[in-house]
Amino acid sequence: MGHGETMTDRRPRSATLEAATRHGQEAGRTGSSALPAPHGGQLVERLAGPDEARALRWEAGERPGLTLSPRELSDVELLGVGAISPLAGFMGEADYRSVLAAKRLANGLPWTLPVTLAPPVAPVGFAPGDLVPLRDGAGRLVAVLRLAEIFRVDPEEEARLVFGTQSREHPGVAQLLAGGTVRLGGEVDVLEPPPADPLRLSPRQTRAAFAARGWKTVVAFQTRNPVHRAHEYLQKIALEQVDGLLLHPLVGATKGDDVPVEVRLRCYQVLLDKYYPKDRVLLATFPAAMRYAGPREAVWHAILRRNYGCSHFIVGRDHAGVGGFYGSYAAQQVFDEFDPAELGIVPMRFENSFYCRACASMASTRTCPHPEADHVALSGKRVREMLRAGEAPPPEFSRPEVAQILVEAYRGRAQGAA
Ligand code: ADX
Repeated sequence: MGHGETMTDRRPRSATLEAATRHGQEAGRTGSSALPAPHGGQLVERLAGPDEARALRWEAGERPGLTLSPRELSDVELLGVGAISPLAGFMGEADYRSVLAAKRLANGLPWTLPVTLAPPVAPVGFAPGDLVPLRDGAGRLVAVLRLAEIFRVDPEEEARLVFGTQSREHPGVAQLLAGGTVRLGGEVDVLEPPPADPLRLSPRQTRAAFAARGWKTVVAFQTRNPVHRAHEYLQKIALEQVDGLLLHPLVGATKGDDVPVEVRLRCYQVLLDKYYPKDRVLLATFPAAMRYAGPREAVWHAILRRNYGCSHFIVGRDHAGVGGFYGSYAAQQVFDEFDPAELGIVPMRFENSFYCRACASMASTRTCPHPEADHVALSGKRVREMLRAGEAPPPEFSRPEVAQILVEAYRGRAQGAA
């Protein structure tokens, strides 16, 4: 990684409220590219250079460490590439409490989700100042935590404040409540670069790609699903307004019944090939894990896309929601709690969209006068049922090329299980 660029500083200056406000007032604009500045002013990339990584491996490699959960592994990757700037590691208690109570870091910068290291059982023998090796499930050393503090949390309270529910039916809550009550905070040095993959672009790389294309305004689209007609409709309306689209599917852990990443990627590629202008879209993967935290996750998704260089962010119906836990538009309303300048990325809000047979076009609740009976709208659950039965969703719901990939993937799965 290049340390020479002014936009980047691997050791963050202490992000003061003053700095945050100043950057916010500039509406996140920076330098000649005019892309928004990263949240807090600069990319905080925590990937260690080769010499430093070698030294850290030597120093920390033999010590007892922690095995990261899939969510924590994703967070470590995001820290390495600067996607969760201005965080330089796992949160300490002051940031954690402030995020829960006020949706802000302790320095006042908007931030809506805890990013914590939460071992399932309280670790013994660790003390502030220790270098704690962080390993993946296969035992590979991926990062080192510079342990600064150990604190306890109340997971029930975290569930109530972050997810708005304490129901174990909620996948994020279930995971949180199944875990421990101790959190380890401190800066993280990431030792392994992300997997080599042409789609896994870092914020530095997406920013360079936007600049190379001359895009000054870029809308990001978050998704954990194949792109159906409604998604395409939102993206294309947004593209009428801005220079480019970053199609940015989340590829970290999702709940078991969401469509696997490899299948989704095939769907995105065929769709872009056949239905999108090539010079207006960039497909890249977003290595975060889903929390299913609805409104709070929507703001977090937006802030992280600002770090990737985007100026706009699509927020549709029930963004990052699950199972009816959030109101359809709660994830849009939460943006009103922030001064747009301090978020530094503009939410583009969309109401429920669908194909209307009477309109003979895509439409939304804002534009269509016809009754629901005319609308082709299928729930995720219903689509999965159809696919399991070998049935393709109709062309009004999903492009035939996408439907075909999904039907084949489900058929392969059924055969594999037989
Ligand atoms: S999410 O968990 O990643 O938000 P999903 O992939 O379903 O789930 O949605 C991606 C984006 O499209 C979100 O902003 C969501 O609100 C929006 N969206 C999905 N379906 C619709 C729809 N039919 N109408 C309007 N917005 C939608």
